[in-house]
Amino acid sequence: MGDVTGMPVNLEAAVARDVTAVPFTELSTMAGEVWPEIEQEFLACMLDGGYIGGLPVTAFERKWAAYCGTDHAVGLANGTDALELCLIALGVGPGDEVVVPANTFIATAAAVVRAGATPRFADVSEDTLLMTPDTLAEAITPRTRAVIIVHLYGQLPDMTSLVATARQAGIAVIEDAAQAHGAEWNGRRAGSFGEAGCFSFYPAKNLGAFGDAGAVVTPRQELADRIRSLANHGRSGGHYEHDLIGTNSRLDALQAILLSGKLAHLDAWTERRIAIASRYRELLSACEFAGTGLKLTHTAPLARHVYHLFVVRVPHRESVRAELAKAGIQTGVHYPVPCTWQPPLRRFADRPLPVAEQAAGELLSLPMFPHMTDRQVDYVCESLPEALRAAAASSEIANVQ
Ligand SMILES: Cc1ncc(COP(=O)(O)O)c(C=O)c1O
Repeated sequence: MGDVTGMPVNLEAAVARDVTAVPFTELSTMAGEVWPEIEQEFLACMLDGGYIGGLPVTAFERKWAAYCGTDHAVGLANGTDALELCLIALGVGPGDEVVVPANTFIATAAAVVRAGATPRFADVSEDTLLMTPDTLAEAITPRTRAVIIVHLYGQLPDMTSLVATARQAGIAVIEDAAQAHGAEWNGRRAGSFGEAGCFSFYPAKNLGAFGDAGAVVTPRQELADRIRSLANHGRSGGHYEHDLIGTNSRLDALQAILLSGKLAHLDAWTERRIAIASRYRELLSACEFAGTGLKLTHTAPLARHVYHLFVVRVPHRESVRAELAKAGIQTGVHYPVPCTWQPPLRRFADRPLPVAEQAAGELLSLPMFPHMTDRQVDYVCESLPEALRAAAASSEIANVQ
């Protein structure tokens, strides 16, 4: 892939001119690629006036369910509502516990609290930073009704064993696949393992809208119907017929047109993310074993990781980020604080979760987007060892003083 991002090819010169050489992510090139294909439909919808739901939403729902290997999809306003409405539709509420991993975006746990239930936090694997069958089993109590398995960073954990553990305990499986569009475990797509899979189409996600959007996929017709009703003021038929107290969480037609357009490109963009990740791994593996403290995150052989994020662990993380920023490289942190330490969730933390707690101080997300050039990847890989050395040296000086 050439330098289609419009980024300066001469990264050194870009750094010298004090401009960002490698952004953390870049969305406009994807929009530009799709726009000519959707422009007419977009304009027609704008002039037609059918802005919420309608044929564009139904068409996207059909395509998204098929892409995920499930029977039904319900388009929603965002991924947080997808989780919350799914829990409510499954009848999870006050008095119930839902297991969630401590290493996730707060929305996973917040959805449980908003549904009236209690989140019960599970630790994660040292290698993949995802929930494991053991950490799930440890967190289950007689009050547990469901588990939300999070496919964080774009990778599914061992779904065969996790689903077996949940089935044995008689609890529902919900997948938080907000970061895992098209990811697989043993050839099966994210969202197709449990009662339901919840997706976010937040703009920076692998499949992102022109704003907020989300969806639930499920094999169960009645669950899809209930979620659709809950998202539409509890409507049962007519405009003023309401069976349930619901909310307003519908998908807009313009977002659905864009999402359908982008879906046709998703596999190519995902392949490019996977190629970028392999290049990172190849170029950074020497650095990992050179005593720098860098640790790469493991990808399980049965997982098709779609690399929403490329996450590594480093010592002196804030100094490393500052050194990379000086070199014009933007980074992210997902997430700097485990959910159990977030003020509104602390009351649910009942025991230490050592892996998630330790990792939160070390996680570093490197730039990752489909139109990132090989040269940009190489530049990050050349700059990171230097940033690690500089950060270690300044920490030694600070310790001596
Ligand atoms: C793991 C995870 N769960 C849930 C969400 C919530 O999705 P949304 O931002 O669309 O509400 C996100 C989005 O950032 C996420 O990354």
